[in-house]
Order: sequence, then structure tokens, then C-alpha cells
Amino acid sequence: MADMGSGSAETVVVVGGGTMGAGIAQSMLEAGASVVIVESGAERADAAHARVADGLRRRFKNDADPEAAAAPLLERLDVSAGLPSTSDAVLVIEAVPEDAALKAEVLASLEAHFPPTTMLATNTSSLSIDGLAAGLAHPERFIGMHFFNPVPRSALVELVTGRATSARTVAAAETWVERLDKESIVVRDAPGFATSRLGLIIGLEAIRMVEEGVASAEDIDRGMVLGYRFPMGPLRLTDLVGLDVRLGIAEHLAREIGERFEPPQLLRDMVAAGHLGQKTGKGFYDW
Ligand SMILES: NC(=O)c1ccc[n+]([C@@H]2O[C@H](COP(=O)([O-])OP(=O)(O)OC[C@H]3O[C@@H](n4cnc5c(N)ncnc54)[C@H](O)[C@@H]3O)[C@@H](O)[C@H]2O)c1
Repeated sequence: MADMGSGSAETVVVVGGGTMGAGIAQSMLEAGASVVIVESGAERADAAHARVADGLRRRFKNDADPEAAAAPLLERLDVSAGLPSTSDAVLVIEAVPEDAALKAEVLASLEAHFPPTTMLATNTSSLSIDGLAAGLAHPERFIGMHFFNPVPRSALVELVTGRATSARTVAAAETWVERLDKESIVVRDAPGFATSRLGLIIGLEAIRMVEEGVASAEDIDRGMVLGYRFPMGPLRLTDLVGLDVRLGIAEHLAREIGERFEPPQLLRDMVAAGHLGQKTGKGFYDW
């Protein structure tokens, strides 16, 4: 991995150009890399291009001519329906939907296409890195790069190391995160990594407190914002993420880690009633 993370004209390949892939591509373009987005068909590839172009226009919205400001960055963006013709990339980031079988299939095809010197990353938010690495011939160059939504404005990338991830791969990933003007934390592969595990347990406890009538949702949130300097209270955050999404993660972590992640009955009841948070207009708050 001689020039991993350095050099002048590196190409980064992003596989899956949806919400996260488009954001990762935009951030990579802003950091000066050339980017190829791999999508599963021509229409989806066009849609991914449009998402990145939109993101860049928003990024330069205060410029006199946002379109002109975005243009030179877009020149470094290519989209491909299927694997690109070139295998010359220093970093490949997989950002296809959260489906273990799909990711395993995509990673196997990437490993066959790119030489063992190309660093391989996954943006999975919950799947085991060791599990995904099991099918790889070169797991030492594989790492989790857990980006946050919206990628261009988020400050963190959680780097998740599998048993086989080499120190060199971790160092290269850290260098990339610096180039993106973000900060990284390094976490051993464990269910929920560090951020989802801790963020979720606070959210679940806040829901239990509403359930037990300890305080109102507003007061619990204000307590954490004003008393603990949280940027947003755990219940408002739950509304933004989606109660159904949080319930799914809680059930997963209850199975993997233990009963302290068992979802509160109130969360189950609200999801069953269709009160999923911001997206349905009602959660712990009215939206
Ligand atoms: N959305 C979030 O807030 C968030 C945050 C952190 C991590 N993640 C993770 O990022 C990954 C992607 O999530 P997303 O929200 O961007 O999903 P998304 O559905 O918006 O995007 C996925 C993209 O992958 C494409 N795709 C599907 N199969 C493909 C294939 N075989 N080859 C190439 N492209 C293919 C789809 O066309 C789609 O554009 C998931 O693993 C998710 O868990 C999501």
C-alpha cells in the first residue's frame, strides 16, 4: 500500500451513491480527490451524480455563482453503472444498503477487481467488520469507516477495526479522515461500535424516564442540553432519527449485547401506533 492516502491524483471509488455515498463523494471531491461512484444501473448512476451536484451547489450557496464554484469539483467526478473500467484506486468505500448478503457480494466483487494494494472500507452502521471480512482474501486492507449523516457537515468518522485490519490500514484511514477535515475515533469491532451503543442507551433510558413519569420529554431534553451540553436532547434526536430505526437498533443490540438494550414498552407502542418521529409528524414532539 505504498501510496495509500498520499500522492497527487488519487482516485477514490465510492460504491453506492445514495444518501451516504453521495455525501462521502462530495467530501472527497472537496478534499481534492478524483471520485468514481459505482451504482447498480445507468439511471441510478445519473441520480447519484445529481445528488452530488446538488450537495455541492448547497455547499457553495453563498457564492455569487454556486454552479460555477461547483464545476471544477464536478470535473473530478465520474459515475459508473457497474464496476469502473479502471482498477487504479487508492481507496474504495462501500456504501450500499445495510444488507449483509448484499455487502458480502459487493465486497467480493471489489476484491476481485482491485489489486490487494487498494484499501477497502465499508460504511456499515451496524454489521460486524469481522463478519464482512470473513469472505475476503486480504482482510488486512479492510476497515469500517462509519460516516455520519449529513456527511459533508459532520465532524466525525468512526473507524472500526476488525481482527485482521492492519495498523497500516488504520493509519491510512486516519490520514484520509484528516484530509476530509474531520476527526476520527478508533473502535474495535463490537456491536453498535462506540457511538450507536452509547447514544442509544441514553435514548432508551430517556424513554424509560418518560414512561415512568419522571419528567416531560421537553424537560429531560432541556436537562441534557443545558446541564450536560448535549447539542440536542436524546428524545428530540430519537424523533429525528426515527423511532422505528432506533427500535430496530435496540432489538439488534439486545440480542448481541444483552437485556440492558431491551426496548422500553413505550417505544414499541409508539412505533406500533405509527408515531415514528419527525417523518410522520408525531413522536415525542409534534412536528
Ligand atoms: N443514512 C444514514 O444516516 C447512515 C448513516 C451511517 C451509515 N449508513 C450506512 O450507509 C450505507 C448506505 O446507506 P444509505 O442511507 O446511503 O442508503 P441509500 O439507500 O440511500 O443508498 C444506497 C445506494 O446503493 C445503491 N446500490 C444498491 N445495490 C448496489 C450495488 N450492487 N452496487 C452499487 N450500488 C448499489 C443504491 O442504488 C443506492 O443508491 C448503509 O450501510 C447504512 O447502514 C447510513
